[in-house]
Amino acid sequence: MNTSQYDRIREKVAATGLSHIAFIMDGNGRWATGRGLPREAGHRAGGENFKKVVRMCGDCGIDAVTVYAFSTENWKRPSAEVNAIMRLLDSFIGDAKREKEENGIRYVFLGDKAALAPALAQKCEELEQITKNYKRLLNIALNYGGRAEIVHACNTLIASGKTEVTEADVSAALYTAHCDDPDLIVRTAGEYRLSNFLLWQSAYAEFFFTDTLWPDYSLDDLEDAVNSFSGRRRRFGAVL
Ligand code: FPP
Repeated sequence: MNTSQYDRIREKVAATGLSHIAFIMDGNGRWATGRGLPREAGHRAGGENFKKVVRMCGDCGIDAVTVYAFSTENWKRPSAEVNAIMRLLDSFIGDAKREKEENGIRYVFLGDKAALAPALAQKCEELEQITKNYKRLLNIALNYGGRAEIVHACNTLIASGKTEVTEADVSAALYTAHCDDPDLIVRTAGEYRLSNFLLWQSAYAEFFFTDTLWPDYSLDDLEDAVNSFSGRRRRFGAVL
């Protein structure tokens, strides 16, 4: 571990109050094709790096991480690719269960589990259940879409008998009801869009975009994002 670099980042994280970072993990496919490998190899490398980045964030004092693992639109990809991502998730969940004590992470899956293979959906629920008392948080957006989430929240509120709702009601009916909104959203691989990620929760988030492809995302990249975040003046609509 590069202690002085971690110390530097930790100091900025503490000074700025950066407690929740979200990642749009883009560029796995390009990472693979650039090496003459099948796209699945890019997802494998991206999955490995995802574990490293989550550890890095924890070591930098960031309490909550959210990642966009699979969107409601990603089902349109070739079935071999979809299956490869689902297998990676399945194996990730197995590791996370075995390593829960040492990781000390609470896992929450954001999205509609009903469309997942029943065995995978059950494993997701089990992991949520057995880690629910850990303090550090990892949200994994899986079969997630921001618009679908808002519609789901509206329907939940209607079903509960409400005829009028507040912003707090909507927030409490979202998949992210258990946590604060992200402070910083990072997107890799040189794309500049949200792609239906955390539409409601991103209202006052800061954004950071990098050309780095997700499998290559490193501590240096995280430091760039934290440095940029520490230079922002967050006014939340007020005059400061
Ligand atoms: C975007 O890259 C990435 C995805 C749609 C999948 C993200 C999945 C992982 C990082 C691996 C599995 C995750 C976990 C949580 C174990 P892309 O394929 O759109 O890349 P491209 O734009 O270069 O084609």
